[in-house]
Amino acid sequence: MKRHLISAADLSRDDALLILDTADELAKISERSIKKLPTLRGRTVVNLFFEDSTRTRISFEAAAKRLSADVINFSAKGSSVSKGESLKDTALTLEAMGADAVVIRHGASGAPHRLANWVRGSVVNAGDGTHEHPTQALLDAFTMRRRLGPLDGRKITIVGDVLHSRVARSNVLLLSTLGAEVTLVAPPTLLPVSVGSWPCEVSYDLDAVLPKSDVVMMLRVQRERMNAAFFPTEREYSRRYGLDRERVARLHDEAIVMHPGPMNRGMEIAAEVADSPRSTIVEQVANGVTTRMAVLYLLLGGADLGGEIQ
Ligand code: NCD
Repeated sequence: MKRHLISAADLSRDDALLILDTADELAKISERSIKKLPTLRGRTVVNLFFEDSTRTRISFEAAAKRLSADVINFSAKGSSVSKGESLKDTALTLEAMGADAVVIRHGASGAPHRLANWVRGSVVNAGDGTHEHPTQALLDAFTMRRRLGPLDGRKITIVGDVLHSRVARSNVLLLSTLGAEVTLVAPPTLLPVSVGSWPCEVSYDLDAVLPKSDVVMMLRVQRERMNAAFFPTEREYSRRYGLDRERVARLHDEAIVMHPGPMNRGMEIAAEVADSPRSTIVEQVANGVTTRMAVLYLLLGGADLGGEIQ
């Protein structure tokens, strides 16, 4: 494994499988009443969040704590960043505090990559702009594997605002590494120009793709990143690209429905679909902690897991 996890493309097939297998082992601990391992005792993990986040920030914090690391939570609001401190000066401060790993979420694509040049510890990208979110892709793959078994040849459909989604890009990269076949479905205005070079298919017809999908992953319509009109009305968007009960009926019996959260209920996904037995949305959150434990554990070179879990 590389020292940093910045892009899903940093992971070879073997690396990705090692993370997922390690997460499987660690999931056993999450089922116990005492969920803590001493593995990262004395190590420091800094969570550096420049953008709003609920589940990702809490998930990294829970993951580091379950491995007994010391956790420092830094959010840009209320810090010297609001006084104009640069990312580099913030990084040097963290470095002086001896961070072994820095988990960063930032509104600018490429910020984690820059940070990696300035700190000695491992950098983990927790979402940079519209670029990547590799641990989300790992927790999604982990969730699919638990429900469906190995991902080779599985058909995964990712639907919605691909243009603004770091989740979509990381998922396409990781899922193709793992041998799955990905199809993106979106209005042409919500697809990046570069999509032709991504390892996936593209379709504009959700109803045609659903019957052959093993997984349908809905993306949030990211209004906060939209500076223009990308579709006529919300109603029109839902009608063509929203997942409602009638559309779900086109899926085969074992197919699952995913969403990284936060959801716009009633827009990209109907509430009754989000809360149905096919939906893995709550599982994804729980699996996020286990998967991030595996990432921190492997990046920080924890001791032999076999000996720890017995
Ligand atoms: C995603 C994100 O922040 O990129 N959410 C998450 O990490 N759970 C997706 C989104 O915001 O829509």
